Order: sequence, then C-alpha cells, then structure tokens
Amino acid sequence: MQQNAQGITIALSKGRILKETLPLFAAAGIEPLEDVHTSRKLIFETTRPNVHFIIIRAVDVPTYVEYGVADLGVAGKDVLMEHGAKEMYELLDLNIARCKLMTAKMKDQPLPAGKLKVATKFISVAKQYFATQGRQVELIKLYGGMELAPIMNLADAIVDIVDTGNTLKANGLEADEFIADISSRLIASRLALKMKDDIIQPIVDVLADTVAANE
Ligand code: ADP
Ligand code: PRP
Ligand code: MG
Repeated sequence: MQQNAQGITIALSKGRILKETLPLFAAAGIEPLEDVHTSRKLIFETTRPNVHFIIIRAVDVPTYVEYGVADLGVAGKDVLMEHGAKEMYELLDLNIARCKLMTAKMKDQPLPAGKLKVATKFISVAKQYFATQGRQVELIKLYGGMELAPIMNLADAIVDIVDTGNTLKANGLEADEFIADISSRLIASRLALKMKDDIIQPIVDVLADTVAANE
C-alpha cells in the first residue's frame, strides 16, 4: 500500500496496550473494520476512510512515527524513553497501561559492593539512570523475563516494568529504586503535524476529552 497522502496512518502497539487503545479511538469514531485480535493483517482500514491503523510490536512504533511513515502512534513512555525523542512529539498522556519503571533485586539480599551487573531490555534508560547517580554498572541486554536474571546469577539487579508486583513476588524479587512513572502516550511525527494538522487536531481533541472523562 502507498503511503497515505490524503489521510493518516496510526501505529498501534499490539500486546497489552491494544485492548485499552481501541476504545479511545472508537470514541473518536475510528474503529478497525476487521477484528484486529484474530486477523493476521498488519494494516487495517477503519470506519474513517482517511484513517488506517498499523498494528506492530510496541518497540517498533516510535520508528514508524520517527520516519513519518505513520503520522500518529501509541506507545508506552518506557519505549519512548528508550528510543529517545527523535523527530516526533508527545501529544497526549492516554493514561492507560500505567506502571512504573524500577530497579529490582533478590528479596532481602543486599546488592554487592562495586560494579553492579544489571540486566534489562531498557539499556539506554538504565545507562542514563546509573550514570546520573555516578554508579558503575555492567549492562546486560535481555528481551524479556528479566526477573530470571538475578535468580540465575546472570545479574545482581534488573531494570524493568513493575505494575502489581506479582511477577517480582512470584520469583522471589523485590522492587528497589523508582526510575519513572509510565503510561502510554499519543505521539506524532513532526512532518504529520506540519502537513496534516487539519486531520490530526480534531482526533487529538476527542482523545483528550475521552481521556479526561475516564479519569
Ligand atoms: P512488550 O512485548 O514489548 O513487552 P507489552 O505489550 O508487554 O510489550 O507492553 C507494552 C507496554 O505496556 C510497555 O511498553 C509498557 O508501557 C506497558 N506495560 C508493560 N508491562 C506492563 C504491566 N505489567 N502493567 C501495565 N503496563 C505494562
Ligand atoms: C511485564 C514486565 C514485568 C511484568 C510486571 O512483563 O516486564 O515482567 O509485566 O507486571 P506485574 O508487576 O503486574 O507482575 P510482560 O508480561 O509484558 O512480559 P514480557 O517480558 O514478555 O514483556
Ligand atoms: Mg511486556
């Protein structure tokens, strides 16, 4: 499909954000024409002929928006922090998928002195966090299941998302240091804001009202 010159493309994160994202857009009159949960498609027409959804991995959303291939996107603040703000703007806190970015370690065990080994998928965020504190760390990149790393002695600590704390507890870990409050954000490409503001602004306005009404 050609890039949507007359309309807009919105990049949504599949996974746990999607279920909370769709009702927000539905309130703005934008609903996918097919069931996104069962379809194998990646691009979806919606009830608005000039709006398409693409549904991709959460970590890939900023990339599509940064390159202006998607005009809008929805992604977790954690993903945006890790990606770095490049050629895009955060328009709205959607107040969904709220959680915290934290360090965690084995419960009731002190961290070893000296250089810490920290496992995470948030390498850039972790690097910045520990550097600001002047702490020496060795960062180990993982793609999921970070809680396993301290148990297996791969790392002393992790940097990960904490919501209920159930995953930490189930694995004998405890939250340690707070890094950031996280929720999902509506982002826009710089180019889209310049070229397609007439389409984007009314959608942002309805989303903002819907988010406010949900509070
Ligand atoms: P991934 O497969 O990349 O981990 P997820 O669908 O699990 O993607 O997570 C998408 C986003 O949801 C994350 O970037 C984060 O902002 C948020 N999130 C992740 N885990 C949780 C959680 N346990 N509770 C609430 N929000 C979460
Ligand atoms: C996320 C996160 C934690 C867990 C936190 O994992 O990475 O492991 O949720 O939630 P809790 O505090 O409510 O237990 P997810 O289920 O997304 O698995 P992943 O490693 O595949 O991202
Ligand atoms: Mg996850």
